Amino acid sequence: MRRLILAFILLVPGITLASSGGVELQQAGNDISDRASLQAGAKLFVNYCMGCHSANYVRYQRVGQDLGLSDDDLTENLMFSSEKVGETMSIAMDKYDAERWFGVTPPDLSVIARARGTDWLYTYMLSFYLDSSRPWGVNNLVFKDVGMPHVMWDQQGWQKLVHTTDEHGHEKAELVLVNEADKDKAEQYKKDMRNLANFLEYMGEPAKLQRESLGWKVILFLVIFLGFAYALKKEYWRDVH
Ligand code: HEC
Repeated sequence: MRRLILAFILLVPGITLASSGGVELQQAGNDISDRASLQAGAKLFVNYCMGCHSANYVRYQRVGQDLGLSDDDLTENLMFSSEKVGETMSIAMDKYDAERWFGVTPPDLSVIARARGTDWLYTYMLSFYLDSSRPWGVNNLVFKDVGMPHVMWDQQGWQKLVHTTDEHGHEKAELVLVNEADKDKAEQYKKDMRNLANFLEYMGEPAKLQRESLGWKVILFLVIFLGFAYALKKEYWRDVH
């Protein structure tokens, strides 16, 4: 058993590294019970991602209920006027047009957090860098030769890739801002991307919110129940002793 656990522990970093092309993932440090963060993430998703990506398994109304937004909040902040709150977060872009423009269709992002993991998504959004050999002028450290433009470049500022060698002689690829003056902007961008990753994780499993709060209630119930069971046990055994 111990050996099995050890093998598992050794394997896990291997798996994460394999999926990120050897790049260490940055921790999103997100919290899906943070409503303000989810609301901010939802807004970013609608404004910056839904031009190309749909979330066909998610309904606006469900998002509204889970995030504490009224139907009016929804229609004012997250939707275009022609949509109804009961509709799913679909987009009008034609699959064939998309393929012609980008070479590949931008995938539906409803369950992307389950496929990629939240830290990967966070790191992905922070890892676009200038690469003049690519059609959009950008590449991505965790998604080599990505077909997506850096749609948030204005929020983050451009980054470039530099190779450095550490004291042990290992080569390291690092992203640095092209323009130092964008530093504050880039810090704010990280916070925004944490919120966006948070929303993507929520979308992947909306029931998680309820499940987690239910989990605490169940544990509380078990603790109280344990108290009763113990008192009962003492009561029964008093006569026996
Ligand atoms: C201009 C169109 C466009 C916009 C806007 C856009 N994307 Fe993309 N995205 C793409 C395309 C095209 C791909 C496919 C890239 C590929 O497979 O090479 C993609 C791929 C992705 C992937 C990788 C999916 C995978 O294969 O695992 C993620 C994650 C992603 N986008 C997230 C986002 C997020 C989050 C936003 C909003 C901040 C966004 N995208 C905005 C076009 C777009």
